[in-house]
Parts: sequence; C-alpha cells; structure tokens
Amino acid sequence: MQKSLFDNIQPNNNVQPPLQQCSVSRSTFYQGDCLVEMDKIADNSVDLVCTDPPYTVTKSGDYKGTGFINGHWREDKNTSNRNAKKGKIFKENEIKFSDWMPEIYRVLKQQTHFYCMTNDLHLKTVIEEGIKSGFKQQNILVWAKGMHTPTQYYFKNIEFIVMFRKGKAKYINKIGTKALINIDGIRNKVHPSEKPFELMQLLIENSTNENEIVLDPFMGLGSTGIACKKTGRHFIGIEKDEKYFNVAVRRVSEYCG
Ligand SMILES: C[S@@+](CC[C@H](N)C(=O)[O-])C[C@H]1O[C@@H](n2cnc3c(N)ncnc32)[C@H](O)[C@@H]1O
Repeated sequence: MQKSLFDNIQPNNNVQPPLQQCSVSRSTFYQGDCLVEMDKIADNSVDLVCTDPPYTVTKSGDYKGTGFINGHWREDKNTSNRNAKKGKIFKENEIKFSDWMPEIYRVLKQQTHFYCMTNDLHLKTVIEEGIKSGFKQQNILVWAKGMHTPTQYYFKNIEFIVMFRKGKAKYINKIGTKALINIDGIRNKVHPSEKPFELMQLLIENSTNENEIVLDPFMGLGSTGIACKKTGRHFIGIEKDEKYFNVAVRRVSEYCG
C-alpha cells in the first residue's frame, strides 16, 4: 500500500507545535525551526533531502571598497550595512551545519541521496560535517548560474552542490547527467538566495521516483516544493521566517506548470 506523507510524522502531543502548518495536495509546510520540526519526522522515512541551507557569504560584493554590498539583508531601512559586512544576507542564518546535518541523516531512508547547496567558503565544512553525520560523499556538482558576483580573485559565477548518500550507493535515474549544470539563476529575486526550481527539479528527478518524499528543511520561497509539485513527488517544507513561509505556501499552491 502507498504510504501517505502523514505516516511519517510522529503524533506526539508533548512536542511544540509549529507556528503555522498547512497542506496543499502532496505538500506539507511547517513554519518553525527545522530542528524542532524535523524532530517530529520518523527515522528512516524520507526519500531525498534537497536543500539550500543558510550560511554567511563573502564581502566580495564590496569589490571597489565602496562599502556597499548589493542585495544584502538589512533589518530595516535605518540599519546600516553591518549585517552584510558580517556576511549575513537574510535574518535567519545562525544555525550551524553540525546542528542540523545529523537530523537529515536520521530521517533519510537507507540508500538515499542528500543534496546540499553551498558556496566555496563553506564547501569544506559541508563535506566534513556531512561525513561526521554519517554520510558518504558521492560527488560535487557545480552549478553555473549565468551571472556573477565580482571579486578581485576571479568573478564568482558558480555554486556547489554536495551530493551525499546514506548507506549503500544508488544510481541516479538519468545516468549521463553531467556534474556541471548550466541553469540561469534568478535575476529579480524576492529572496536573496532564491534558486531556480529547474535546478532542484534536475536533482529530484535523478534521485527519486514519483510519489516519493522530498524534504527541504530550509525551503525559503519553496523552489524545491515547486519542483516536487511539477514532478509528482511529496514535499515536506520547513521555513522559520514567516514572510518567506507565506510566499512559499502561495507559490507552491498556485504553481500549475
Ligand atoms: C538559502 S535560503 C533558501 C532559499 C531557497 N532555496 C529558495 O529558493 O527560496 C535558507 C532559508 O533557511 C531559512 N532558515 C534559517 N534558519 C532556519 C531554521 N533554523 N529553520 C528553518 N528555516 C531556517 C531562512 O529564513 C532562509 O529562508
């Protein structure tokens, strides 16, 4: 019998409820801290984790010493660029890889994949923390995003996607897919790290089959959710920031491409 998405959520009245929760067709959305929300997901129950976690970014946008770093988060219009100077581009980015990666390992089934997007500065940490959490490194994919951040040391036009596996190796569905992925990034972003859903779609289609369950614990505007809807996968999305959560629910609900 086909397992329903909700079979994987442990009913437990003692746990803290999410700030908001809602379900739309095959997607379930939780607004809250992913550590709290993932704690409610049963061990070995998820088929894929595909996520773009928060991390600090370089100050390289300040490439001519102007002090202005384009597109970085400010608490309000009176706040100076101090958040940007600390490498902070949106409000919620305090969580450490070592806090959440072991939870990803726990909820994934055996013989599954975990894709973690990152930049050059955090690549080493992502690999080390993933391996400490129990994963094996399967590959490192490069996303060529067709746009760049200027720096004095080669303009940055790529990001990385570390592909891990839990347990025994599993082939991807479209053998022959190249590790260098050319998909244009989003120019007029609503979220500073918004990703094109086509990128998530490529990963999801390669590592799951229809009706399987994909988790994104840092869903932002729900790009992974749209990719799941488009490809007939179940989606569990968690987002702490209410503003992004609301947009994600609306985008995934309204998506009918
Ligand atoms: C890099 S962004 C993801 C953007 C997403 N890929 C998209 O296309 O919109 C990471 C997201 O994680 C959220 N976040 C940060 N800490 C969190 C936490 N502890 N629990 C859940 N979400 C969190 C942030 O608010 C942010 O929206």
